[in-house]
Amino acid sequence: MSEGTKKPFERLPTKVVPVHYTLHLTPDLKQFAFNGTVDIDVQVKEATNTVVMNCIEIEISKAEFRTSGDQSVVKGDVSLDEGTETLTLTFPNPLPVGDGSLHIIYKGTLNDNMKGFYRSKYTTPSGEERYAAVTQFEAPDARRAFPCWDEPAHKTTFDVTIVAPKDRVVLSNMDVVKEEMSGELKTVTFGRTPKMSSYLLAFIVGEYDYIEGLDEDGVRIRVYTPVGKKEQGKFALEVAQKTLPFYKKYFQIAYPLPKIDLIAIADFAAGAMENWGLVTYRERILLVDPVNTSQATKQYVALVVGHELAHQWFGNLVTMEWWTHLWLNEGFASWIEYLCVDHCLPDYQIWTQFVNSDYKSALRLDAMANSHPIEVEVGSPDEVEEIFDAISYCKGASIIRMLHDWIGDKDFRTGMHEYLTKLSYKNASTEDLWTSLGVASGKPVDKVMTTWTKKMGYPVLNVSAKQEGSSRHITISQTKFCADGCDEPYKDYLWMVPVTIATKNTKSAASILLETKTSTVTIDNIDPNDWVKVNPGSVGFYRVNYQSDMLTGLLQAVSDGSLDTRDRIQLIDDVLALAQAGVGSTVKVLELLSAYANEKEFTVWETLVGSLGTLNRLLSNTDYHDKFKKFAENIFTNIVKELGWEPRPNEGPLIPMMRSMLLSAYGHYGNRNTISQAKSKFDNHVCDKETCHVDLRSTVFSLAMKHGNEGTFDQLCKLHSKSASQEESVRLYRAMGYGQTSPLVTKCLDYAMSDKVRAQDCCTLFASAANSSKTGRVVSWQYVRDNWQKCKERFTGSFMLQRLVSSVCSDFASEERAKEVEEFFTANPVASVERTVKQSCEAIRLHAQWLGRDKEAIKEWLNSKS
Ligand code: BES
Ligand code: ZN
Repeated sequence: MSEGTKKPFERLPTKVVPVHYTLHLTPDLKQFAFNGTVDIDVQVKEATNTVVMNCIEIEISKAEFRTSGDQSVVKGDVSLDEGTETLTLTFPNPLPVGDGSLHIIYKGTLNDNMKGFYRSKYTTPSGEERYAAVTQFEAPDARRAFPCWDEPAHKTTFDVTIVAPKDRVVLSNMDVVKEEMSGELKTVTFGRTPKMSSYLLAFIVGEYDYIEGLDEDGVRIRVYTPVGKKEQGKFALEVAQKTLPFYKKYFQIAYPLPKIDLIAIADFAAGAMENWGLVTYRERILLVDPVNTSQATKQYVALVVGHELAHQWFGNLVTMEWWTHLWLNEGFASWIEYLCVDHCLPDYQIWTQFVNSDYKSALRLDAMANSHPIEVEVGSPDEVEEIFDAISYCKGASIIRMLHDWIGDKDFRTGMHEYLTKLSYKNASTEDLWTSLGVASGKPVDKVMTTWTKKMGYPVLNVSAKQEGSSRHITISQTKFCADGCDEPYKDYLWMVPVTIATKNTKSAASILLETKTSTVTIDNIDPNDWVKVNPGSVGFYRVNYQSDMLTGLLQAVSDGSLDTRDRIQLIDDVLALAQAGVGSTVKVLELLSAYANEKEFTVWETLVGSLGTLNRLLSNTDYHDKFKKFAENIFTNIVKELGWEPRPNEGPLIPMMRSMLLSAYGHYGNRNTISQAKSKFDNHVCDKETCHVDLRSTVFSLAMKHGNEGTFDQLCKLHSKSASQEESVRLYRAMGYGQTSPLVTKCLDYAMSDKVRAQDCCTLFASAANSSKTGRVVSWQYVRDNWQKCKERFTGSFMLQRLVSSVCSDFASEERAKEVEEFFTANPVASVERTVKQSCEAIRLHAQWLGRDKEAIKEWLNSKS
């Protein structure tokens, strides 16, 4: 894609740097505009005529510099550059070295793009539509609310004052220190923040209720909800009350602010944002209604609370020096959120779920030629936006988990404490973390971890074994794992891999640090019939390719239940990935899947459902798709019978999740009885005869739509118009995508683009339509192309367009489609989706190759079974 004549990105000059901002804002919630005044205390480090800072979509009416010594005031000439998002103030004479201050008066728009200072629509309990003013400053969007040095390394203090209608709730990072009434307005002044980066500042004006509690250390926690829904904040409050003390003990550092608020925002681009002391969330990721919230949502709320509160230390107190180190923030928080939920809610088996979510998605994306290293050079806001991806989050979390396991919890904690103490209120790079953890553990953390963060990808360990008397010699060799099986270009890639080996009787029979291409490990006193598994617990970030007799032993271990849950998960995922890459065969995967038919664990079923889904999408491009569906359906028969439709008392949190997932799968693969049950539950729900249990609603709605017609779609719309929560709305959106004909899919997409759906949720309908059938895929892609301009206008929030492109394009399986996608985006280039387009085209080509390679063999195998 053409870069045109764009100037290379440069960070702001540092001749003049900020030390403190005094910000005064008056938002107008009717005209969607705001007036602002900012006074910035600065240090002039080198005499200069110009001051450069970030600023975009702001109109400046006055800019002056005042010298702190003689208090002389000079007016600056204003020049704004939209391309670089900067404001340059030029003064007639060089500003003298020393302290001074800038005084800027300006105007801005309360935009509806969910970034900067923006407006969010809500309906009052009496049905009136109103707007709140809220902020989202990460990645660099504080510059849309006030001119500032909008780079994480410029840490300063902030004094915020907001003028708002007197009946509104006004919030910011700190507590209110002064409130003055004047007619219909009030002027609210907040306490001074600690030294912090601009992307963590936040302020909100709106109407909310809250519930409040203290944690055991006396920190005041409030959960702000839409008016009338404060009871729905209770679950998040309880999680936060356990989480803050947990982190305090883990890091041995107290939460440094006097309060923390968690608030549900009606329009929100990301899932949640860790603003210091004022964490913002999507409504459906914070609110829990005892009757109408599903178990899956509740679990997610806990994880996200754990994630954002972790950032209060890791990210807010100590912040990455530049966005290249973003993964430090996000990878770490994505790891420790599991540690925290494991502590607060031990029955969720959350670490096993980690393997299914973060670990597996990272392995998938990072095998692609268009992946990228965890640490990546970034400059412009578009590039920054691009790295909020599964590499920063999921691979980041996975390699921290591997490191934690390798050095052990005690040394890990010591190192974390050291790092966070030494760098409090300062900035850090990846190396700083490795240094602290290296000192604490006495291990070569830096040397090992650099191999995981500085280059993309990860290894596959090729493993073979030879028994000699009572000893087993295990030979391991590493190569880069490539999604297309071609590791040729990466011959010299070498990782330092902490490897553990388990046997049938010993969890950790051997541990080594593999530093070379090949190594042999000997295990003594082992029965020739005992199985051996590399990477027990799936903590190492690599795949394993077993010599075939070793795999046979492990298959046995799956069937007899001697293999641990996480190992059962990884085994199938590795075998599937190897088949996709053309290293193994897909028929082996099908055989392996059959071996899991007696499985009982939710987490393992989640993997099986995922793997079957991958195969299903691929084989929807064949003439024997129905045969595959029958095969898949049969796998679920026993377990579905056991679970039934009715929730049982005290069945534990994972069972309802398993029930809805498996009934969905069973129904979607075509089980008649399940479909008719779902339809009748849907009819009863729609006519208010019997409300469908919340954990089954997704299953029931989507199966009803899949086997329904226009009337069904209209019923979903009617339910939507009555929906009492965003969570319920999203369940309905997902179901709307299941229409199986072209007019039904189009109807769903038109609905998505209408004002009945918030921009934040629009992608959910597209993704559902594109993933639910072959027709859905084709129609959605055509729709996106026909309405590209409108899509670009609607998908303006952070990474929304990326999500749209990857969910609509990636599942095709032919070279023609890959070309079509490529050509379309060459003709319609958008910088922020460049990498996503490349990854999607790569995925399409991988599907095409896979299908070409294994189509016939799969057909034969399926025929032989029926
Ligand atoms: N810092 C991010 C929010 C963010 C993401 C801002 C992207 C700007 C761009 C926050 O901590 C986060 O990671 N939120 C996640 C939820 C989390 C539990 C994975 C999100 O928004 O999806
Ligand atoms: Zn985060």
